[in-house]
Amino acid sequence: MKTVVVYGQNHKGSTYHVARELVEKIGGETTEFFLPKDFGEFCVGCNTCFNITERKCPHYAKLAPITAALDAADVIILASPVYVYHATGAMKAFLDHYGYRWMVHSPEASMFTKQAVCVCTAAGAGMKTTLRDMHDSLFQWGIAKTYTYGVGVAAVDWAGVSEKKRRTIDKTTTKIAQQIVRRAGRVRPGIKTRMVFAAMSRLQRSGFNPRDVEHWKQHGWTEGKRPWKQ
Ligand SMILES: Cc1cc2nc3c(=O)[nH]c(=O)nc-3n(C[C@H](O)[C@H](O)[C@H](O)COP(=O)(O)O)c2cc1C
Repeated sequence: MKTVVVYGQNHKGSTYHVARELVEKIGGETTEFFLPKDFGEFCVGCNTCFNITERKCPHYAKLAPITAALDAADVIILASPVYVYHATGAMKAFLDHYGYRWMVHSPEASMFTKQAVCVCTAAGAGMKTTLRDMHDSLFQWGIAKTYTYGVGVAAVDWAGVSEKKRRTIDKTTTKIAQQIVRRAGRVRPGIKTRMVFAAMSRLQRSGFNPRDVEHWKQHGWTEGKRPWKQ
């Protein structure tokens, strides 16, 4: 099993340690990226990815190693500390670069058979909105099954996290990892994803954006084919 972790921060604090526990329990091969160290560009708003191709994005080459790792992974973990009730700016800037992959545009076929986890830690509040920041993209990418884990660690770094809290983190990461391993290789998108996909396939038949229409046509998705086992 291949897992890729994208951290919304460069440092190895509470968020890193919680995500690491999860990764180690999942096992297999892991690739990690730290933002903004490994990718720190802001979308320039040129719309080229939507209208022509993402290959002409000014940041395409810099993003390519992360994109390749995401596409090759069985499990994608997005992890971010809560910064003013949301994911970090680095995580948001990273996710902006994949707007073209949302189901309404040109989704990547392999996403529909992957599992993902959103992880966040906060001192005490803002976990729900932060998880949503990351979950929105994973859902719109078409990820088949996404788990979320937000922890109020009551600390500003990992050293300050209590033993009691660490035991809870241990239990929860074990549970999520077990579910991921059990479902490996046999996940299928839920009803909500399948309904959005069906609506998009109808939309793309009469299409408003030639790049997306061509993408859907090429995959046979406007003719009833689906990127998951039916
Ligand atoms: C800029 C900044 C903003 C923060 N905003 C919040 C917040 O809105 N709510 C909260 O509970 N904690 C907030 N915190 C605290 C962190 O979310 C918390 O300590 C988290 O566990 C840090 O994770 P890390 O050790 O991986 O950096 C903030 C910290 C920073 C540096």
